[in-house]
Parts: sequence; structure tokens; C-alpha cells
Amino acid sequence: MRLYTRSAGEGLPVVLLHAFPLSSAMWLAQREGLAEVCKVITPDLRGFGGSVLGGDVPSLDVMADDVVRLLDSEGVDRAVVGGLSMGGYVTMALCRRHPDRLLGVILADTKAGADPEAARSNRERIAAAVLQEGTSVLLKELLPGLVGQTTVRSRAMVFGRVRGLVQSAPPTAAAWAQRAMADRPDSFDTLRAIKAPVLVIVGEEDEITPPAEAGAMVEAVPDGRLAVIEKAGHLSAIEQPEAFNRAVSDFIAELAGGSSPRG
Ligand code: MLT
Repeated sequence: MRLYTRSAGEGLPVVLLHAFPLSSAMWLAQREGLAEVCKVITPDLRGFGGSVLGGDVPSLDVMADDVVRLLDSEGVDRAVVGGLSMGGYVTMALCRRHPDRLLGVILADTKAGADPEAARSNRERIAAAVLQEGTSVLLKELLPGLVGQTTVRSRAMVFGRVRGLVQSAPPTAAAWAQRAMADRPDSFDTLRAIKAPVLVIVGEEDEITPPAEAGAMVEAVPDGRLAVIEKAGHLSAIEQPEAFNRAVSDFIAELAGGSSPRG
């Protein structure tokens, strides 16, 4: 499995893993805004964007191993690895399976707990519905919660862009990923064991993985810091890209032992 990947910039490798049911297209503003401070590597997770799905049983571990194979193929030994929401779940699986590959970790708008039974059944219902009816179920049930109230009220272009990204999700990948997410374990022990510095980011209006989830993750990791993005919901990187990029570039500067090039 070779992941289709868009990269920009040079220097410290920073891998960013996308949310469900999007693709690396969601990181456009990060490729543009962070290329001056690092090498931004944004793969399409299997089944999404330009990456094929393959025949494996649904699993976030499989997705994490895909990302490590990508690092191998790019000749990258260690990287900052981060992800937003589903991308964060994949990042935590990677922390569990490949801790020696990490220079730093970014967990954005995600959570460390496993799904309760009701949420697992709901994911199976959505997986079956998306295979039968296509992405309309995602537009109806998931899209409204993906962005915050500020974006819904005053940023129609951003909402429209997110809608377009959701609409282009391949149904087979969406079903596969729902089943993979349903199967994920609790990751709090994984967080406690992370040796690398961790940046947790959350949109203050995130209703899917609210600031309390971010607070619990920061408390669990040995070396954590928290950035709360104002006027952003679940897709903070798309809704407030400048604030998101500032948080990431400050973190990169801290890892490099200097002050942020953005001040
Ligand atoms: C995402 O944005 O990736 C999803 O909200 C993750 C999830 O369904 O738990």
C-alpha cells in the first residue's frame, strides 16, 4: 500500500493526517502556511483521495503502518506526526506501534477514549447506510457538526468547501474507516507512555471532540501543551488556519530549541 501524498517545504518532517471523511485536501492552508518552517507531509489515508483502499480488515493499526511505510519510502527516520480527529486516532495507533519514529506528536480535535457500545453500533449503521445510499448520509448526519457555530453563521465559503470534501468521500472508504474507528481501543495508556513532546489543539466550539477531551489528553501525556483555537469548531485547521498554523509553528520552534519564526 503506497499512500498518495502531497508535500511542501523543506526541513523538519511534519506528517499531518486528515479527518473523516476528508482527504489531504483539508491541509491546503497548512501546506501553504507551514512550508516555510518545516516539510509538511500530508498523505491521503487508505481509500480516501488518491490512495487505494486495499483488502485489509478495517483497522487504525493498518492505517498507522501505512504512514510508517510512507516515512520509510521518503527516507524519514523520525518525524513530528499529527492528525485531526480520525487522523488523531491514527496518530495514537502510531504512537502505540512505532514510538521510536516520533520527534513530536500533534493531536488536534480528537479524543483518547474508545467508543461506548451505542457509538459503535451507530458507526455500523452509518457504514451500512453509506454503502447503500452513498455520501448523502454523511452530509445529513455528520456535516452539520463538523464546523463550529461561527463558521456556520459567518463563513459560508468555508462551510461550502467542507461540504464539497465530504461529498467526494468514496463510500467504501467511509464504511471501512467507520468500522476501523469503532474498533479502536482506549488510548490513555498510550498517551501516558509517549516520550516525545505533545501538542494538543482544539477548536473552542468543537462539539464532536470538545475542549474537555483535549484537556484530558494534555493531562495524560508526560510533556504536553494545549492550544485552544478561538472561533473554530471540529475542523479547526480549516476554520482558523492562521491560528492553527501558529500553534504548530510555535511547537516546531520549541522542538528545534529556538523561538518561533512567527514570533
Ligand atoms: C473525524 O472528524 O475524523 C470524525 O469526527 C472522527 C469520528 O467519527 O470519531
